[in-house]
Amino acid sequence: MLFLISLTICASHESDSITINQSLTGDQKITSKGGYFVLGFFTEDNSSRRFYIGIWYKRVTKLTPVWVANRATPVSDPTKALLHISHDGNLVLRDQLVKSVLWSTNATISSQYSTVAVLQDNGNLVLREGENSSNVFWQSIENPTHTWLPGAKIAFNKRTGVSQRLTSWKNSGNPAPGLFSYEMGQNGQLQIFKWNMSKSYWTSGSWDGSSFSQVPEMSGGYLSNYTYANNYEEISFSFSAKDNASIIRHILDVSGQMKMLMWAEGVQEWTQFWSEPKAQCQVTAFCGPFGSCNEQRLHKCTCVKGFSERSPKDWDLSDFSGGCTRNTPLQCAGNTSAYVKQDKFLPISSVRLPIDAQQFQAGNVDECEQACLNNCSCTAYSYEITCSLWYGGLLNLQDRLWRKAVRRNTLP
Ligand SMILES: *[C@@H]1O[C@H](CO)[C@@H](O)[C@H](O)[C@H]1NC(C)=O
Ligand SMILES: *[C@@H]1O[C@H](CO)[C@@H](O)[C@H](O)[C@H]1NC(C)=O
Ligand SMILES: *[C@@H]1O[C@H](CO)[C@@H](O)[C@H](O)[C@H]1NC(C)=O
Ligand SMILES: *[C@@H]1O[C@H](CO)[C@@H](O)[C@H](O)[C@H]1NC(C)=O
Ligand SMILES: *[C@@H]1O[C@H](CO)[C@@H](O)[C@H](O)[C@H]1NC(C)=O
Ligand SMILES: *[C@@H]1O[C@H](CO)[C@@H](O)[C@H](O)[C@H]1NC(C)=O
Ligand SMILES: *[C@@H]1O[C@H](CO)[C@@H](O)[C@H](O)[C@H]1NC(C)=O
Ligand SMILES: *[C@@H]1O[C@H](CO)[C@@H](O)[C@H](O)[C@H]1NC(C)=O
Ligand SMILES: *[C@@H]1O[C@H](CO)[C@@H](O)[C@H](O)[C@H]1NC(C)=O
Repeated sequence: MLFLISLTICASHESDSITINQSLTGDQKITSKGGYFVLGFFTEDNSSRRFYIGIWYKRVTKLTPVWVANRATPVSDPTKALLHISHDGNLVLRDQLVKSVLWSTNATISSQYSTVAVLQDNGNLVLREGENSSNVFWQSIENPTHTWLPGAKIAFNKRTGVSQRLTSWKNSGNPAPGLFSYEMGQNGQLQIFKWNMSKSYWTSGSWDGSSFSQVPEMSGGYLSNYTYANNYEEISFSFSAKDNASIIRHILDVSGQMKMLMWAEGVQEWTQFWSEPKAQCQVTAFCGPFGSCNEQRLHKCTCVKGFSERSPKDWDLSDFSGGCTRNTPLQCAGNTSAYVKQDKFLPISSVRLPIDAQQFQAGNVDECEQACLNNCSCTAYSYEITCSLWYGGLLNLQDRLWRKAVRRNTLP
């Protein structure tokens, strides 16, 4: 009989690193030297069977991942998955059930080096040469997910054109890349984008030496110290906590807002100091097609009359991007003939007009309405001196309850 000795001895609880001889599986973890951060498998929902390799705070009682490796490729059983140093020196997450690599640091490493992955006290996971700690091949701080930790940079590299940016989670329970990104623009201003929109919906304004013009919260920052650099190599922005006892992080939330949070030891909760943009409804198309945003309501999104949530499950997880669908299809739907004009319009008053209007030459309200009726993909019109038509889903609607008294100019 033949017994094979496995070279894979698993990481002990005190270890802060993963080496060629020490991998990680199941509920094993590594902990940074000073006991600040932990790396291991976590789940946001024990019933989902979706586990991720992540880094979280050891001293924060509420599980708070600050970085996730396999964002879009969860494992279903951590005891059948292995995070290890592969033969090419990279740190790799392997699923032994499906026998595939789910995630890799994917660095180019010369075969002369043996590598080690070390979790540092600042929350940074570093893949470096075992013998020489200055020879770094990859680090998590340069590949951030939705959290911006003290010491990490939001940066635009002028030579390579590479942007070191944050991307929001898909929804509150799923770390897969979501709709929003926070990044440094080539103009030296921070910006937040919705993924396939070319125009940002929020910008920081320019740096004046101590703060960005649109983010006055930063200048009074008694909690953190911000550092801005614009040189030959890159434009970058980072922050540090002013005292070591405070646990501070910034996140690009599923709401599309950048939030600064501090762990409040007394109440064992994250306390929010500020968010940008300040109002939820400033996030472009936050409520999706035919959804309307309202700051006053606890649940910011509602469907306009005659429409229902496309995916109530996603709405419950704070992902409103799917918007709303019609309860009753249009008469003209599926009919190509232009003269099917059984459909009617429902006036909506006190609403911010949707984005992406097309202008039409119309002499009066009736001509404007007729123009919309003539084309089945036209979903709405507004007539106020000029005629505006909208095609497809209406985006960026916002209730304006405070303007109830304004004349109802869209009435036919
Ligand atoms: C791994 O184990 C082998 C064999 O026991 C040993 O020679 C080598 O030094 C170990 N490497 C590390 C990085 O611990
Ligand atoms: C999942 O289960 C573990 C162990 O039972 C528990 O410690 C953890 O808090 C649970 N996580 C969630 C998100 O419910
Ligand atoms: C690794 O990098 C190569 C090219 O540099 C890319 O094609 C590949 O998709 C990457 N793999 C992973 C797992 O990121
Ligand atoms: C360690 O790595 C750094 C960065 O690659 C290099 O500059 C330095 O010369 C190395 N030191 C030794 C002793 O090899
Ligand atoms: C963005 O993506 C959504 C969903 O795939 C699509 O409906 C929409 O038309 C896209 N918008 C732009 C501006 O490309
Ligand atoms: C703020 O950061 C700069 C650059 O890292 C440093 O020189 C300065 O001492 C810091 N100030 C405080 C109050 O921490
Ligand atoms: C915070 O800790 C670091 C390293 O442990 C130390 O160098 C620094 O001086 C400390 N800063 C403050 C404000 O205590
Ligand atoms: C097409 O129009 C006719 C006449 O208005 C209507 O009866 C029919 O339901 C329409 N077809 C579809 C697929 O909506
Ligand atoms: C309806 O309007 C859309 C958008 O302007 C246009 O692409 C399409 O050709 C029009 N359809 C008809 C039947 O006029």
